[in-house]
Amino acid sequence: MKGRKAAVGVFDSGIGGLTVLKNCAEVFPLAQYYYLGDNQNAPYGERSEDEIFCFTDRCVKKLIRKKVSAVVLACNTATAVCIARLRVKYPDVAFIGTEPAVLPAVRKGGNILVLCTPKTAHSQRLCGLIQRVPDAKITVCACCNLAKEVEDCVANSRTIDLSSHLPCGTFDGVVLGCTHYVWLKEKIQAFYSSPVYDGNEGVARRLKEVFLEKLGTNDHLFPQAGKEKNKKNKCLQKKRKKGVKFPIFLGKSRKTNKNIYKQMFVS
Ligand code: DGL
Repeated sequence: MKGRKAAVGVFDSGIGGLTVLKNCAEVFPLAQYYYLGDNQNAPYGERSEDEIFCFTDRCVKKLIRKKVSAVVLACNTATAVCIARLRVKYPDVAFIGTEPAVLPAVRKGGNILVLCTPKTAHSQRLCGLIQRVPDAKITVCACCNLAKEVEDCVANSRTIDLSSHLPCGTFDGVVLGCTHYVWLKEKIQAFYSSPVYDGNEGVARRLKEVFLEKLGTNDHLFPQAGKEKNKKNKCLQKKRKKGVKFPIFLGKSRKTNKNIYKQMFVS
């Protein structure tokens, strides 16, 4: 990976990963991001493992052709099904996965609800994660169709009736185990009147760590690093801000994804 520019691919089955892209761009702003959403084939969560691997691999190949050093699988489902195989298939690329933020939620204690796609719900990866906290009280709910609803509703500015998708009950914490649900974070928080956890910030921090580990400190890539107090540094800060590159959107749904990202996250 040494010597390559900081180009990062971000992949999701559709629009869920845009929320991860936003976090990554905040934490690690000077990388050139390439976003590829496979909106045509979304949702992945109810597909077979073979299909999910085949779609994900095809998209990952397109990102690798852009000479990215790292690929963020901004999709819990694709992470659960594909990340191990992708790491073996593309050993030169650093893969950063997304997984339900079960551990941070459990640390706060109480009765935890994990909302995710059916494929993630039945995955060994989630099972392994839950086994790491054997004393925790965790309910996993596979939400059929919710990712598809999010895909349609966000693109067409429609609201979703959460009561037809979410289980009733009282929980001390709710984990969003699908990046599509991050679009509904505030609504889900209000629905359960409890804290809601997503893995996005963790993914962004991990991405930055990976670059630090593999590419060295590369201070110029990290505008927040170092002291920016004196005049000279202010000047530098301005230059660095200028260097922030807008993500490049790829794939058949690039226009839709770019517009949603712009409307929602770029002021
Ligand atoms: N956004 C994805 C996830 O985090 C998948 C949603 C889907 O395509 O079913 O799981």
